[in-house]
Amino acid sequence: MTILITGGAGYIGSHCCVTFLEAGHDVVVVDNLANSSEESLKRVERITGRTVPFEPVDIRDQQELERVLRQYECTGAVHFAGAKIVGESITNPLSYYDNNVVGTQRLLSAMDKLEIRNVIFSSSANVYGPPSMLPVTESHPTGPLSPYGRTKAIVETMLSDLAASNPAWRIAMLRYFNPVGAHESGLIGEDPQDVPTNLMPYIAQVAVGRREQLTVYGNDYETRDGTGVRDYIHVVDLVEGHLKAYEALKALPDDRNCFTVNLGTGTGYSVLEMVRAFERASNKEIPYTIAPRRDGDVAECYADTELAARTIDWRAKRDLTAMCHDTWNWICKNPRGYGE
Ligand code: UD1
Repeated sequence: MTILITGGAGYIGSHCCVTFLEAGHDVVVVDNLANSSEESLKRVERITGRTVPFEPVDIRDQQELERVLRQYECTGAVHFAGAKIVGESITNPLSYYDNNVVGTQRLLSAMDKLEIRNVIFSSSANVYGPPSMLPVTESHPTGPLSPYGRTKAIVETMLSDLAASNPAWRIAMLRYFNPVGAHESGLIGEDPQDVPTNLMPYIAQVAVGRREQLTVYGNDYETRDGTGVRDYIHVVDLVEGHLKAYEALKALPDDRNCFTVNLGTGTGYSVLEMVRAFERASNKEIPYTIAPRRDGDVAECYADTELAARTIDWRAKRDLTAMCHDTWNWICKNPRGYGE
């Protein structure tokens, strides 16, 4: 009765391990360590006092996945493994299709073969493309603008087809808004391998003195202060949503054996509001300069959270202060991430 966590050594995956272990589940992690570190799993063990079996397997290796699923008698999977940098997906689309689409197809084939048919998939609000209405509901048309977003949308389609093909499947697709923050212990958190492309880890690295200043991409958007507005969600809230989704799978009827929900808070904050909140939490100044807009960015994006509340009985609980405080605690304790 073990849950396979693909990408479990990564930022969100490691937090998910903690939440699932604390809820009494057993887990096994597969990860190719492309953008993660085994040290995160040692930290998960410290937090939970449980052992976390780790298998250094790439999700494209179907045979190895089958071995792991069999050996640990898995009953389901939470599937995080994948690549997630929009710019990189534009310059190297084949590797994104390979990792995200082919990798998921192999994982699902392995699971289907062994009749393990419970799966939670990490999708992204990126599948919506530029919002035509706010807040963004799940019925908003999809239309991702990047290869990254298209790989997520393709996997969602593959999963819907799979659910329709066999009522034994139980599938949840979770569309993340902007995960930030860290576990309150400060033992696990986000540790980008290169220069961060996302806002929060960049701000944190400026605050801790690892980078000089933040570049704010655009202050001429139609938003309250001209900078981009996003729905930042605490990573622990996010993974609690996964636990709720996993628990909801059991109760799904055969003819509605698959659902898709947003995981966000429903509240948007601008880049400058994030900077100020982080300054308050860290008591550090965050110097910044204004630069032109970043390609592919939208002015404003935040979630409608009602369907998640109804479907999986979940709402985010942690506020912006907690997101900034926990990020600051993590980076102060681990200024160089896991690489110390
Ligand atoms: C980005 C990705 C999205 C992915 C998500 C999670 C893009 C266009 N989108 O979302 O597909 O699912 O990360 O990994 O890359 N900002 C700055 N300076 C920075 C970094 C960001 O001003 O150094 C601004 C951005 O312009 C945006 C906001 O901060 O307004 C949030 O950016 P980011 O954290 O990269 O998230 P998204 O762009 O929403």
